[in-house]
Amino acid sequence: MSKKVGILTGGGDAPGLNQVIRGAVYRGIKHYNFEFFGILDGWRGLLEKQMVPLTIDDVRDISGEGGTILGSSRTNPFKTEDGGAICKKNFEELGLDAIISLGGEDTMGVAYQLFSEYEVPTVGAPKTIDNDLPGTDQCFGFDTAINRVMEAFDRLRTTARSHHRILVVEVMGRHAGWMTLVGGVAGGADIILLPEEAFDIDEVAEKLKKLREEGRKYALVAASEGAKFKFAEGTDIITQDAQIDEFGHVRLGGIGKILAKELQKRTGWEARHVVLGHLQRGGAPSAFDRWFSTRLGIAAADQIANENYGTMVVLKGSEIVPVSLQEAAKGIRTVPEDLINMMKIFEP
Ligand code: F6P
Repeated sequence: MSKKVGILTGGGDAPGLNQVIRGAVYRGIKHYNFEFFGILDGWRGLLEKQMVPLTIDDVRDISGEGGTILGSSRTNPFKTEDGGAICKKNFEELGLDAIISLGGEDTMGVAYQLFSEYEVPTVGAPKTIDNDLPGTDQCFGFDTAINRVMEAFDRLRTTARSHHRILVVEVMGRHAGWMTLVGGVAGGADIILLPEEAFDIDEVAEKLKKLREEGRKYALVAASEGAKFKFAEGTDIITQDAQIDEFGHVRLGGIGKILAKELQKRTGWEARHVVLGHLQRGGAPSAFDRWFSTRLGIAAADQIANENYGTMVVLKGSEIVPVSLQEAAKGIRTVPEDLINMMKIFEP
């Protein structure tokens, strides 16, 4: 039976969003005779009934494009009075049969709430460069992002070596260190600081001094934006300001600059910092992310054809399988202790 399907992309953009859309539209139209509509700017589009038709012609040529052709936002409909009921009403008035929502913990949390409390048929796919969504072995966007981090280290190594400097690289990822860990190890960082384990700045400085004493003329430090300083009275993260978004997140950032200053002071070694920021998210997806995302899009259309709603299509081993959306609402998936310990063999 033909269905009218809306697709939306929520939260921070990630490489692979367009490829999921493309996979779903091709599969849905060619195999199931679905009609597709793009809901603009995440959940805001559903709240405001902003929707455009999506045809194969619209997605044919976007296999190499980053970002999202549908726009994104961090709108939480449940922050609007009666937001859930408005979404349900708009869903019905737009004549939709199902929604594919592409996003991270926040977008999936809304999808799950709309499904479980308002009976809106939703199917999700796990997007985030942070790679912190539970229920999947990997999120799309992550592979591209870690390659960006690795390339940054490859470039920064040559300039750090030329100038005999410490280079501190601030990596996104919020409260999960996946990007810093994988990008940092791949890029050969000497010190890797993750949100999962608070660090003592004096200990970090000592390790760098040891490295210098051993004859190394430069050093590379990978620091997660959400890494925590250890103080006598506790731990602290560095935020850009006191603002929080509609999902209660603070804006992280600034740790790179502070670290460079503090490490230079403690080691006497010239230190600079680089904030990778949105360079990690923007631009064309890697081949892996294009392929992975395409498979997710195809699988999402299949779930809708099977009316297997309230699910998220994920990667388990090398298979794409559906799991309950509830899985995604179980907090964030952080780097486990064994991997943190493993990476320490590279420290001075
Ligand atoms: O969740 C993805 C992410 O890129 C985080 O790594 C980062 O902290 C955040 O989004 C930045 O959000 P924004 O683009 O809204 O500043």
